[in-house]
Amino acid sequence: MTGSYPITRLRRTRAHGWSRALHRENLVTPADLIWPLFVTSGKGVEEPIPTLPGVSRWSVDGIVARAKEAVDLGIPVVALFPNTPRELRSDDGAEAHNPDNLMCQAIKAIKDACGNDIGVLTDVALDPYTSHGQDGLVDDSGYVVNDTTVAMLVDQAVNQANAGADVIAPSDMMDGRIHAIRMALEMHGHHNVQIMSYAAKYASAFYGPFRDAVGSGGLLKGDKKGYQMDPANADEAMREVALDIAEGADSVMVKPGLAYLDIIYRVKQRFDVPVFAYQVSGEYAMIEAAQAAGIGDRDALLMEKLIAFKRAGCSGVLTYHAPHAARLLNG
Ligand code: PBG
Repeated sequence: MTGSYPITRLRRTRAHGWSRALHRENLVTPADLIWPLFVTSGKGVEEPIPTLPGVSRWSVDGIVARAKEAVDLGIPVVALFPNTPRELRSDDGAEAHNPDNLMCQAIKAIKDACGNDIGVLTDVALDPYTSHGQDGLVDDSGYVVNDTTVAMLVDQAVNQANAGADVIAPSDMMDGRIHAIRMALEMHGHHNVQIMSYAAKYASAFYGPFRDAVGSGGLLKGDKKGYQMDPANADEAMREVALDIAEGADSVMVKPGLAYLDIIYRVKQRFDVPVFAYQVSGEYAMIEAAQAAGIGDRDALLMEKLIAFKRAGCSGVLTYHAPHAARLLNG
């Protein structure tokens, strides 16, 4: 209950720093962060991504160095995305099943170097492997077919788990894939490999720089509106989340982040499950652009957004700012 002025003055508790600290309701720590990393082939390679200033693709040795950096910073998980060489991309994305593909090499190298000091989260979807840039198999009419794609995703997920992945994160938005992947993981003895499902993933204009980073942007014809969600819908997101939980997801993700805080909040209020936000590439790039244009202070903008995710109910946030944020938080 709130009394009336002047008995109650809400500014009293805001008057001094010690008091603001005492009354703070939410907290961001490095343990809330998941750091997405882009893997490229070669050795000793760092390729800056122009549309994601400050973010690079790294060859596997560099990825291992980043994973060690994450451990030192207190970041508990890295998320991996491959930039598959053009000649290995095909209509059916078969490279996704290669036990020695870039993704698997990176998973193994991180696990060899860091063991369980860090979790490795892996993206399941075909877009980094297909010549057309869609997340699944495309039929003659251009439609991304569901059930045969799910079978491919299951193989991809088992391939990643065999290489040592700790968290499988399907980002493809096919129907029924969480159940199919869970059953396959159980069958292959991967009982403790988690699934973090991209449960409510929207067909968003904020993914542009990511598509540059994994090299699918230039290949993509059309859009992903036939499987990713309509930004106008929220009730439908609740149905997506309910299904993924029933199918065996250990945690769910809402993506993009900031423009979908209402979805995060509703999911957290309605389902007692861990919720994560993906602060996507376009969101990251906008903060960097604001800093470069003198419109706002990067560090302040970033920390304000991170606390917003925690306030809305997130257990954690995938963000390209993870190492920078962790450094700020560690002082
Ligand atoms: C595709 C995938 C995308 C992202 C993660 N996985 C892009 C897309 O759906 O086209 C976007 C991440 C970002 O923008 O940072 N499976």
